[in-house]
Amino acid sequence: MKIGVFDSGYGGLTILDKIRQLLPTYDYIYLGDNARAPYGSRSFEVIYSYTLQAVRYLEAEGCRLIILACNTASAKALRTIQQHDIDPDRLRVLGVIRPTVEAVSGHHIGVLATQGTVQSESYVLELKKQRTEKDEECVITQQACPMWVPLIESGEHLSQGADYFVDKYLTELWQKDPLIDTLILGCTHYPLLLPKIREWVKGKAQRTKDKGQSLSAVRIIEQGDIVARSLRDYLSRHNDIASVLSHEGTCRYLTSEQAETFNRSAGIFLNTLVSAEHIRIGI
Ligand code: DGL
Repeated sequence: MKIGVFDSGYGGLTILDKIRQLLPTYDYIYLGDNARAPYGSRSFEVIYSYTLQAVRYLEAEGCRLIILACNTASAKALRTIQQHDIDPDRLRVLGVIRPTVEAVSGHHIGVLATQGTVQSESYVLELKKQRTEKDEECVITQQACPMWVPLIESGEHLSQGADYFVDKYLTELWQKDPLIDTLILGCTHYPLLLPKIREWVKGKAQRTKDKGQSLSAVRIIEQGDIVARSLRDYLSRHNDIASVLSHEGTCRYLTSEQAETFNRSAGIFLNTLVSAEHIRIGI
C-alpha cells in the first residue's frame, strides 16, 4: 500500500520532495487538484468537499496513509474527515499544522497563510495550546497573502511582478508587529517565494539598522523537513501502518489539470521530470 500526498496544486510538491528525500523507499501518490486551485479563499463547505473527494480518490488508488500537504485543507477539513469520514483501521489522514507548531520556538511569531487558514485561527489555537502547556507566552500575528498562490500556480513567483505582493504582505505583517522573530510559511506553496521573502527580510534588517534600531534575527520556518521528520516518527510509532506500506521507491503524480501543464510546472518545482496522469475528480 502507498502513502498519498495531497494539495490543492503544486505547493504540496515542496513537502513531497522532502518526504521522499528522508523516506525514499516507500511508494507515493501525489494528487494536485490544480484545476480547482486555489482553495485559500473558498468556503469551509467547498474546501471540505474537495478535500474529501481527493482523500476518497487516493484511498481507492491504494493509499493507507494520506498527508494533507496543504495548510488550508489541514485547517478546514482535516478534523471533520478524521472524525466523520474515515475508518482509522483502513485509512489514516494527517495534516501539516500540528507538526509545524511543534517545531516553532520564537516569542513574536508571524504566520503567513491563505485567507482560509488565517480565518480558521488554527495556528493561533495550536500555538496558544503549545505555549500554555510549556507555561510560556508569545505574540502571534497572522497575515493572509491571497495573491501569492495564484502567482505561484501561474509560474510568476520569481518575476519582478511578484515583488510588489511580497512587499505588500510582509510590510503589513511587520506594521502589525515590528518585533517578529519567527516567520511561519503556513502555506505549502510559499517556499517557492523563499528567495524573495529572504531578500525582503534582509533588506528590512538593513533599513532598520540604518535608522539606528536593531531587528532581531528572523527565523523562517519552512514545513517540508518538519513534516518529513514528523512522518518518519509517526511510522516508527505505528507499525500496523508501516508494515503494510510497500517499498518500491515509486511516485505517481495525479492532477485534475491537463497532464502536460502539470509536468511543465512540477518539473520546475522539483527539478526533475515528472509524467503525470490526468484525473477527473468530483465530476
Ligand atoms: N498550498 C496550500 C496551503 O498550504 C493551499 C493554497 C491554496 O490552494 O490556496 O494552504
